[in-house]
Amino acid sequence: MTKDIERVLLSQEEIAAKVAEIGAQISRDYEGKDPIIVSILRGSFIFMADLVRAITIPCTVDFMSVSSYGSGTSSSGEVRIVKDFEGSVEGRHLIIVEDILDSGRTLNYLMKTLKTRGAASIALCTFLDKPDRRVVPVEVAYKGFTVPDSFIVGYGLDYDQKYRNLPYVGVLKPSIYGE
Ligand code: PRP
Repeated sequence: MTKDIERVLLSQEEIAAKVAEIGAQISRDYEGKDPIIVSILRGSFIFMADLVRAITIPCTVDFMSVSSYGSGTSSSGEVRIVKDFEGSVEGRHLIIVEDILDSGRTLNYLMKTLKTRGAASIALCTFLDKPDRRVVPVEVAYKGFTVPDSFIVGYGLDYDQKYRNLPYVGVLKPSIYGE
């Protein structure tokens, strides 16, 4: 697997330090608020698992799965909720956890949808941000790293559903995705 990686962009050590920092920040900001931490599957599962262990206040966890309508850049940005989270969010504080913010279409739509459900607050926590690719605005409360517009995999991010289990974030060799 590592032979397909051109270079390491974010090492395990850098990631661990950043996740600890975000976990501490969330613990301070949500003291006494018992937030629901919601992971958007599948890409965020590794970040989510590390993040919640860096959070030192009481919280609950849940999971959502979404899929985009249409394909590529012509997509309307509308997303279908494939798996919703359990129970009511009325009056609760939600923290949405994503692996990467790219065009922003998925999160822009999802945040709008979730805002209609009566939560006390909704904040987005994304591990990575590719601002060069943004098409629609998305407000981010917690961000791990800003990354360039290159093909990256690992720490939950895939190419063709593979490489998610790499413990670091690496740039994929162009020969792998056919350029
Ligand atoms: C990724 C990521 C976000 C979305 C971001 O998910 O987890 O949900 O794309 O892209 P956008 O900002 O352009 O909307 P993906 O569809 O690759 O699914 P995955 O999490 O299962 O890998």
